[in-house]
Amino acid sequence: MTDPVASSEIRVPHSAFLTDTFGRRHNNLRISVTDRCNLRCTYCMPEDVTFLDRSELLTFEEITQFVKVAATLGVDKVRLTGGEPLMRKGLHKLVRMIAEVPGIADIGLTTNGLLLAEQAAELYDAGLRRLNVSLDTLDPGRFRELSRRDGLDRVLAGLETAKRAGFAPIKVNAVAIRGYAELDVVPLARYCRENGFEMRFIEYMPIGAEVWERDKVFFAQEILDLIGREVCPLNSTKSDHTAPAVDYEYSDACGRVGVIASVSRPFCQQCNRLRLTADGKVRNCLFALDEADAKALLRSGGPVGAALADMIRRSVWEKWEGHAFNTAQFVKPDRTMHAIGG
Ligand code: 5AD
Ligand code: SF4
Repeated sequence: MTDPVASSEIRVPHSAFLTDTFGRRHNNLRISVTDRCNLRCTYCMPEDVTFLDRSELLTFEEITQFVKVAATLGVDKVRLTGGEPLMRKGLHKLVRMIAEVPGIADIGLTTNGLLLAEQAAELYDAGLRRLNVSLDTLDPGRFRELSRRDGLDRVLAGLETAKRAGFAPIKVNAVAIRGYAELDVVPLARYCRENGFEMRFIEYMPIGAEVWERDKVFFAQEILDLIGREVCPLNSTKSDHTAPAVDYEYSDACGRVGVIASVSRPFCQQCNRLRLTADGKVRNCLFALDEADAKALLRSGGPVGAALADMIRRSVWEKWEGHAFNTAQFVKPDRTMHAIGG
């Protein structure tokens, strides 16, 4: 692992925004608050994992300090992820702290939903509105197979509670894996249509613990064909060009579906994201092989704002063009998804 601040001689321009050498502006920060999870989804993490010692996790104060500096560099969107972020005690306090940072206009949370019913009200009170709930199947047997745990009922209860609490939008994210998606896409799409949730399917990416093969990806086009045929015809609609999801509307105007075609149609050219891991490392890409140690800076004592700003700028400046998992050059990062943040 290299420390780009110490090792690199490249001069990084002090522009007002976090721009990289491909002209991409970065305003979107994804923060993992823990690597722990109460599920063990096969595509994300191994069954046997050693979690970080709690002392290695950034504190809420340290995370907020990081967000304050990032906000001065043009970051206005934050998403909290994990592991499972609701396993971090008192997460609503962090939501409130981030919501108060000047410049942060938008906070979202990506959760597996197991602890959502208990925490929905306090998260809403803290100012959170946008929720992504990961749910790959409505079948209890396949839920157990994919996540190696039980919990479907709790996820559904969490979604119901969140809806009643007033969260909007609520998106349901499913990883589309061949062998499962054929059975799950249609019931999931119907369930979301009936409940006013936005369904999003994500092509299975090589970032979990299992051996990934292209054959295991159930592609976006196959998903759209299936839904159009079995649920309701779809029309393309205007999507946010920086968002990875391409959105479609049902022709009867009863909702939307999005597909994240990370494999069949990579969206790296539009990427506007940077990441902070639970142990305080800055990553400029989900698939990055290098990271910068923000925690060491944050814990060095004394004012760190300028050095942290330099570290973030440099990390973004050194960002590569994009992941290469459609090529033979692809190298899988050492960390699996749960330890990076989804
Ligand atoms: N491919 C695609 N999506 C994944 N996620 C986790 N692992 C993978 C993978 N290998 C998704 C989860 C969740 C988010 C945190 O990341 O389903 O929606
Ligand atoms: Fe946990 Fe999400 Fe990974 Fe599943 S995908 S093991 S819910 S962090």
